[in-house]
Amino acid sequence: MKIALVIGARPQIIKSAPIVHEASGDVEVEFQLVHTGQHYDFEMSRIFFGELELPDPVINLGVGSGSHAWQTGKMMIGLEGAIEKLRPDVVLVPGDTNSTLAGALAAVKLQVPVAHVEAGARSYDLRMPEEVNRRLTDHCSRMLFAATENCVKNLLKEGTIEDQIHLSGDTMYDALLRHKAGALRSRILEELGLAVGEYAVLTVHRPENVDDPEALKAIMEAMIELKELPIVFPAHPRTMERLKAAGLLRRVKEAEHVRLVDPLGYHEMLRLVKDSRIVFTDSGGLQKEAFWLSTMCITLRERTEWVETVELGANMLVGNNKNMIVRKVRECLATEGSETRLAGLPKLFGEGDASSKIIEALRKIC
Ligand code: UD1
Repeated sequence: MKIALVIGARPQIIKSAPIVHEASGDVEVEFQLVHTGQHYDFEMSRIFFGELELPDPVINLGVGSGSHAWQTGKMMIGLEGAIEKLRPDVVLVPGDTNSTLAGALAAVKLQVPVAHVEAGARSYDLRMPEEVNRRLTDHCSRMLFAATENCVKNLLKEGTIEDQIHLSGDTMYDALLRHKAGALRSRILEELGLAVGEYAVLTVHRPENVDDPEALKAIMEAMIELKELPIVFPAHPRTMERLKAAGLLRRVKEAEHVRLVDPLGYHEMLRLVKDSRIVFTDSGGLQKEAFWLSTMCITLRERTEWVETVELGANMLVGNNKNMIVRKVRECLATEGSETRLAGLPKLFGEGDASSKIIEALRKIC
């Protein structure tokens, strides 16, 4: 069974790694990694290959950054050539990035079966490019690997053929279980001089938050006002550019409790999230990682595709309104014992065996 695995952006590397490991040593399964080059900085791509022990891609298209149509179109052209050359039995596309959509479209048009990892996640907000990517990818996939029961329900509502849906669980959870011990060995808290449970982590990179200078300003002002605890802020390159363009970078750097740092590796980030009091984020993956690590999450969005985490009270949606963010965070800080409560919640995204379920299901169609 030859599987072409299309990756491009940081979270896709994490989502893919446990699937590749699951099949390592199995002579009947051959993975060929195709990197679109959507992410190209060392901290956004290469570092994760080392940490997650992934083999080098057989092809890197080096597409880089650009508008959505340009980026997706250029990837599709490159992926068409790659798929024709590699002749895989199936093209596996994880997540919801432009690389995911480009991989799915290029493959289905060449009549190569598409398998989507993280199928059925829905925020029902078409302003988010990821929602567009998810919906279109699901609708041209032959095999849909859903992380939760709710994702399965979403797919059924859209008329997906039931036999094509597989409730696998989440491969990010598999990765987290595999790497938790490694993450605990990270010295990031010591390097940054932080005490367990006495700091927060912030990540923000979604276009609706960083491309709109008013929204970015509101979020940054909320962070600057929340002087109760140090806030570690590993900034995505896109966010750094926008902070500079909006004239906000100096103010953020001047706030003593805000610790602006470069994007972190996987192990460092897991350790930081596990030991933090609160995570502020607009990332989909980080909402789940905070949930699994029993850390309260404050999501800087109005909607989420991971509604389960909100329903269980482990995640709060606050959008990008300054007063709302500050109020909710103060409420949260005043609540005692939240870590114990969060640790008692069901983990909901499978048993850490999503990758083996995916490989098993793929064997049946190839
Ligand atoms: C992409 C995904 C998003 C995912 C995120 C993870 C889409 C539509 N979005 O967003 O779902 O959560 O990756 O990080 O696919 N840049 C660099 N170096 C890099 C990569 C990006 O400097 O290695 C800068 C460039 O200025 C670029 C900007 O970041 O224009 C945005 O990158 P892009 O790939 O368009 O999307 P992300 O915001 O990273």
